[in-house]
Amino acid sequence: MSSPIIDTPPKSHEVRVESNVAGSGEDHVVANEIVLILDAGSQYSKVIDRRVRELCVASEIHPFDTKLAPLLARGNVRAIIISGGPESVYSAKAPAYDPFLFDPSLGVPVLGICYGMQLMTHLLGGKVEKKDHREDGVHNIHIKGNSELFYGLEKSERVLLTHGDSVTQVAPGFTEICLSEGGVIAGVENVASGMYGLQFHPEVDLTENGKSILKNFLLRIAKCKADYTLDDREHQAIKYIRETVGDGKVLVLVSGGVDSTVCAALIAKAIGPERVIALHIDNGFMRHEESARVEQALKVLGLRLIVVDASQTFYNSTTTIKGVVTEQLKITVHPEEKRKIIGDTFMKVADDEVRKLGLNPNEVYLAQGTLRPDLIESSSKTVSGVADVIKTHHNDTELVRLLRETGRVVEPLRDYHKDEVRELGKNLGLSEDLVWRQPFPGPGLAIRILCSDKPYVDAQFDTTREVLSYIVTGNAADTLDQATRGKIDAQLRDMSCYEKVRAISGITPLLLPVQTVGVQGDGRTYSYLVGLTQQTPNWTELFQLAKIIPKLCHNVNRVVYVFGEPVANPVIRSITTTRLQPDTISQLQIADAIANEILQKYKLIRTLSQVPIILFPIDFDTENSGKRSIAIRTFITNDFMTGVPAVPNQQIPEECLREMVDAILAKTPNISRVVFDLTSKPPGTTEWE
Ligand SMILES: *[C@@H]1O[C@H](CO)[C@@H](O)[C@H](O)[C@H]1NC(C)=O
Ligand SMILES: *[C@@H]1O[C@H](CO)[C@@H](O)[C@H](O)[C@H]1NC(C)=O
Ligand SMILES: *[C@@H]1O[C@H](CO)[C@@H](O)[C@H](O)[C@H]1NC(C)=O
Repeated sequence: MSSPIIDTPPKSHEVRVESNVAGSGEDHVVANEIVLILDAGSQYSKVIDRRVRELCVASEIHPFDTKLAPLLARGNVRAIIISGGPESVYSAKAPAYDPFLFDPSLGVPVLGICYGMQLMTHLLGGKVEKKDHREDGVHNIHIKGNSELFYGLEKSERVLLTHGDSVTQVAPGFTEICLSEGGVIAGVENVASGMYGLQFHPEVDLTENGKSILKNFLLRIAKCKADYTLDDREHQAIKYIRETVGDGKVLVLVSGGVDSTVCAALIAKAIGPERVIALHIDNGFMRHEESARVEQALKVLGLRLIVVDASQTFYNSTTTIKGVVTEQLKITVHPEEKRKIIGDTFMKVADDEVRKLGLNPNEVYLAQGTLRPDLIESSSKTVSGVADVIKTHHNDTELVRLLRETGRVVEPLRDYHKDEVRELGKNLGLSEDLVWRQPFPGPGLAIRILCSDKPYVDAQFDTTREVLSYIVTGNAADTLDQATRGKIDAQLRDMSCYEKVRAISGITPLLLPVQTVGVQGDGRTYSYLVGLTQQTPNWTELFQLAKIIPKLCHNVNRVVYVFGEPVANPVIRSITTTRLQPDTISQLQIADAIANEILQKYKLIRTLSQVPIILFPIDFDTENSGKRSIAIRTFITNDFMTGVPAVPNQQIPEECLREMVDAILAKTPNISRVVFDLTSKPPGTTEWE
């Protein structure tokens, strides 16, 4: 399929406003045209935001129930986009909205995505119904008519659908503009009233020409000028830093990652390096030699650097969650608790260090490399009040929120998305090497050690094993009833893969008694991990099963290939107790360093967006051996909201994988097996916790 050519946006022509806010010579305020994104609780709001900005149109995200008249009165709003959301229009929890949104006198075009389209249809007199089976995933849609939204597109397009409800009858005055393979109405429009609706997500990478659709909406329908450029935004960020910190000092908490380093560089540019104090806290979960590398990177920036080894403090730390004191980090297994303890301890250590420096904590500002998506993801109230909390972000703990409320946090990157930070970093003079480093989570390796003190075996465990066996091999124990077998066959036929799956032989599924984090629909899941074994991996077959299994087993969200001989006598219900302790941390540091060295050798650091290496508490072959396993999780994405694993021999040579597997097994103590993560996002997240 040929992609329409995306024009280069026009060069910035800055529009000065007469009533310039605080115009101090070189600073200027640009009266950008604005697109309002109304967040109905979708985890994709930030992706819409990024896409809009990428098209050089400024955007603001507001909670769904925001009063629109005052925003529209500003005179620069050109369009409104309504995000998807986890609720049904019939749910009592459906988010409130300003009815003016659907009023003919609104005056700007509205694009409703998923929930947005359903609500539009429901309120304006069409019909929305629950369908028997969800059409989640990538599907073809067929385009009807000549909607401006689809200008330049083919008649058939690949798109990401995620929804429970469907529009079964368009509202009066609307026309259908596309249909899904299953015949569901996938898009509607009412040109006269400027209302457009899409049942799929144009904002994600998985919708191949989604960017063109958004571009059509913004430039052809809403007639935006596309004049919001990266240069404008650097000026705005510098102005924001100067206004926020006045003549105070700024403490920059630097992890060595791209965000915090760019943040430090930007602040140094805004107020000069002498007023910047760069603090690096080693929390004990850094990569091998990471702290030394940070030291080097900062020296190049000419910044004062303080390195604190706080690993012992972190291992012993606790925090309070809902009035209850947690266990010490070194024995905590729950991922959210781990994140929260680390986040809170980080801020406490930082405060202590400020005191040791003799700085008055009330006169010092804390700078953080928090990005726009971080804020949206933690449903911080500064951006949106609705989104389901997908994960507690390290940089947005309650403590940080408190500091923000007292005005003592400066987050100069809060308006930037990830790739924009890299651009900004390059403009600020940082090396390519540094700005292209793969993202590394704030809590570091702590969330790449899947902690567990007992096997996860729930009431569904045995049935799930049989269902898995039936899906993969066509055989199962007699305990699996005929009705279930029939249903599985029917679903495989529905997905047009019955013959292909039944032709597969030599693959054995293993249901593993651990949970990993995933995301399905608009919510977070905690579900089983499945391992597949096969003498010689046939990646086509393995990826096919990895796609099918989570669709049929809703309690599985991640599937991996287990390298090595097929597991002869699998360990079924036991795990190796795993906590954040020196031995587990060192196991992962070794494996991670080996993997990264080999990735570098094969020049894969930049082509693969991220390659988390994960330690998990399974010994596949021997009970009570004390061994654990290592997972290689490759991830290719532009938006970090959706993405796919690298396919061996396509995006990663199988030889490179073999080299990693052999070296990890040879050099890391007590490793049972190495596995390769076959899961897309959704249903699996990038990280396992
Ligand atoms: C951490 O706790 C252990 C006992 O659990 C203690 O021996 C050690 O001194 C503590 N370390 C710090 C830095 O508090
Ligand atoms: C979070 O904060 C740490 C310092 O606390 C910083 O190094 C890191 O880059 C920040 N992460 C993000 C995603 O902004
Ligand atoms: C892998 O499996 C596919 C589908 O079952 C098959 O067509 C292909 O020949 C297999 N490849 C190899 C190398 O065996």
